[in-house]
Amino acid sequence: MAPSPSMDSNSWDVISFAVDKGHGVKGLADLGLETLPKQYIQPPEEQITNSTVVTDDSIPVIDLSNWTDPKVAEQICHAAEKWGFFQIVNHGIPIDVLEDVKEATRRFFDLPAEQKNKHSKDNSPTNNVRYGTSFTPKAEKALEWKDFLSLFYASDDEAAAQWPSACRNEALDFMKKSEFVIRRLMEALMKGLNVKEIDGTKESLLMGSKRINLNYYPKCPEPELTVGVGRHSDVSTLTILLQDDIGGLYVKKLDSDSWVHVPPINGAIVINVGDALQILSNGRYKSIEHRVIANGIKNRISVPIFVNPRPSDAIGPLPEVLEGGEKPIYKKVLYSDYVKHFFRKAHDGKETVDFAKI
Ligand code: OGA
Ligand code: NI
Repeated sequence: MAPSPSMDSNSWDVISFAVDKGHGVKGLADLGLETLPKQYIQPPEEQITNSTVVTDDSIPVIDLSNWTDPKVAEQICHAAEKWGFFQIVNHGIPIDVLEDVKEATRRFFDLPAEQKNKHSKDNSPTNNVRYGTSFTPKAEKALEWKDFLSLFYASDDEAAAQWPSACRNEALDFMKKSEFVIRRLMEALMKGLNVKEIDGTKESLLMGSKRINLNYYPKCPEPELTVGVGRHSDVSTLTILLQDDIGGLYVKKLDSDSWVHVPPINGAIVINVGDALQILSNGRYKSIEHRVIANGIKNRISVPIFVNPRPSDAIGPLPEVLEGGEKPIYKKVLYSDYVKHFFRKAHDGKETVDFAKI
């Protein structure tokens, strides 16, 4: 039966429509549903309420116009230790590159479902390109109100052959134009750990592979009952996140139960530490829980670049960090095993990192 706006979600197969046929939550939103399908209703403890949000504090905003100033490196390390999250301005990535990748994201999600679904897990000829909805629909008790296209970078030729043409060039351009920022951030963070030089081995551990996601959070009926993305930390070393001007990303304050909003700043980029860097730094840099609310008024997009170790790398605390006699709190784990563990379960806050705890 074809779904219509007034139909309740008991009378048609929402999962088949949104997940299997590839219409996604954008397809649900386009139907003009008046109520949220029950499959998306999150348990009350996952719904984001004002009572846990604080407005008198916020993640640092770091001005990178003066890279060589040692104070800038200090600010970066301090933010990575105390917040695990910060925004950067005057970073040198041209504003056109940022605007173009946002536009390309809208262009991709505006394609008909049949075209997007050619890139689904079941249909895509390559594992490096994956269109999907929610996070892991098969493992989740309640779905998340988000569609995504995830692109693992293998090479320019592979991207040219496999990435969807609606967004390929813009996604690649954002990845390339952000490379020097990533390198400088890593250099500053490594100095803070007493690592003098990023040699070949460290280069691989810190930024040996990359994945770029295009996220689409359509306008949602009854947004307070669901989430855009549930509580999680990233499995990256660093994440470079471009968001549009809608807002809705919340970050947990270190050692507290409070959440702070990450306000959109035109031209800024959000940076966060992921689990891999938390492990490499033996817990010095914090991979912090974050989540995204659903929005009842507007569509939102975001474009994270996940900077990762290579899948074949073993990650554990760096020798330089342990030099002074500090006890390791993580063991060495194969990065591909770590990532597999993350994708086997629904979003569950900070629990992934236990996989590497001693
Ligand atoms: C993510 C994520 C935040 C956002 O994709 O891991 O946390 O604002 N996204 O979309
Ligand atoms: Ni994230």
